[in-house]
Amino acid sequence: MPRPAIDLFKKTFGTTPRAAASAPGRVNLIGEHTDYNGGPVLPIAIAQRTTVAVGPGAPGDASVLEAVSTQFSGVARVKWQEELPKGWVAYVGGVLRELWSLEAVPFDGSVRIAVASDVPIGAGLSSSAALAVATAKALAPSLNPRQIAGVAFRAEHDHVGVRCGVMDQTIAALGKRDHALLFECASLEATQIPFDARLLLVDTGKRHDLSAGGLNQRRAECEEAVKRLKVELPELLWLASWPAEWLPRLKRALREPLRARAVHVVSETARTRFAAQLLQQRRLKQFGKLLYESHESCRRLYDCSSPELDTVVAAAKRAGALGARLTGAGWGGAAIVLVNKTDKKTIPAIQRAYERAYGRSAPITEVKPSAGAHTERV
Ligand code: GLA
Repeated sequence: MPRPAIDLFKKTFGTTPRAAASAPGRVNLIGEHTDYNGGPVLPIAIAQRTTVAVGPGAPGDASVLEAVSTQFSGVARVKWQEELPKGWVAYVGGVLRELWSLEAVPFDGSVRIAVASDVPIGAGLSSSAALAVATAKALAPSLNPRQIAGVAFRAEHDHVGVRCGVMDQTIAALGKRDHALLFECASLEATQIPFDARLLLVDTGKRHDLSAGGLNQRRAECEEAVKRLKVELPELLWLASWPAEWLPRLKRALREPLRARAVHVVSETARTRFAAQLLQQRRLKQFGKLLYESHESCRRLYDCSSPELDTVVAAAKRAGALGARLTGAGWGGAAIVLVNKTDKKTIPAIQRAYERAYGRSAPITEVKPSAGAHTERV
C-alpha cells in the first residue's frame, strides 16, 4: 500500500517523491527480552506495513528535514544535524544521522519524507522499527538488509534512546514470506524456518510507550546481573550465555529481583532454541507448550505481563489452544495464540472472557508471515 504515502507527499510538498520503500511490523513467536542479552529470538514479519516516500527538500535548504505522516498532524521541519526532532520524527532524524556517518544521505542532506502506516502504534508490533527500517530503505536502497537493520537499530538505540535489542529492526529488514526467523543476537546468525501454522493476534488495546517504559529498567537490571555473575564466571559477556545447567549456581549468586530476571533470560534462551528445533520438525503441539511456558516466565519472573494479557492467555489455554503468550516487550500490547487449523472454540472463548473481565472486546486477527523491507514503485 504505497499510495497513501505517495499521495500525502504530493499533497504536502506539491511534487512527486523520488523513491519509496516499506517495512513490516512484527510479532515474536518466542525469545522475549533475550535480544539485548545476547540470546536467540524467533520473530515473524506481519502483513501490516509502514511506507515512506522520500524526495529532495527545497533548493538551498541545507540539512533540513521536512516530515509528515498520515498518523500525526502538521509538518515537522528541523535542521536534523543540529537537533534531534521530537516524537516520531526522532526516528527519522536518527536514521539520517546514521546514514550520514556512512556517507549515504541523498539529496545533499535536505530531505522531505511522507509516512503512511497500518502498523498500530504502541500495540507491541514494533511500529518504530517499521518506520526506521522503511526510512533507511527509502533513503539508501543500495544498502543490504543487514546494513539497513543496523542503521535502524542505532537510530532507535543511540539517538532516540530506547535501550532495545536488535530483534525488531532485524526482522523488519530480513523477514521472509511464510517463514519465521531464528536470529542469534550475539553471533548474528540468521536461519529462516518455514511457518504455516495458524496464529492469532489478540490486541488488548492497552498501549505502552517503550521510550518511557520498563524496558530500560529491565535492561539495567540485566546488566547489573552480568556484573555480579562475572565474579563467578569472569569471561561472561552476555547474560544469555550463562549455561542453563548452572541455574542453581546463578540463583545462589543473585538476589531478587536480579535473580528472577536472570532465570527468565537463561531459561528463555534454552526454550527458544528448543522451540526453533520443534518448529523445524513441525512438532506444533510441543512448540505450543513452550509458548505457554514462555508467557509464564515473562509474567512471573520478568514481570512484564499485564492482567489483560494474562486473561487472554488463560482463556486460550482453557479453550484448548496449542499455545499462547504475550509478544514484544509486554506491559500491554498484544498476545499471540497458536491454534489448530480446524479450531473453532478459541476465538469465541477469548472474546467472552475478555468482555466479561473488561467490558470491551479485544480485536482478534490471523497473522501470516510476510516479506521484510523492500522498495516500492512511485
Ligand atoms: C522490544 C524491543 C526488542 C525486544 C523486545 C522484548 O520490542 O524493541 O528489542 O527487546 O522488546 O523481547
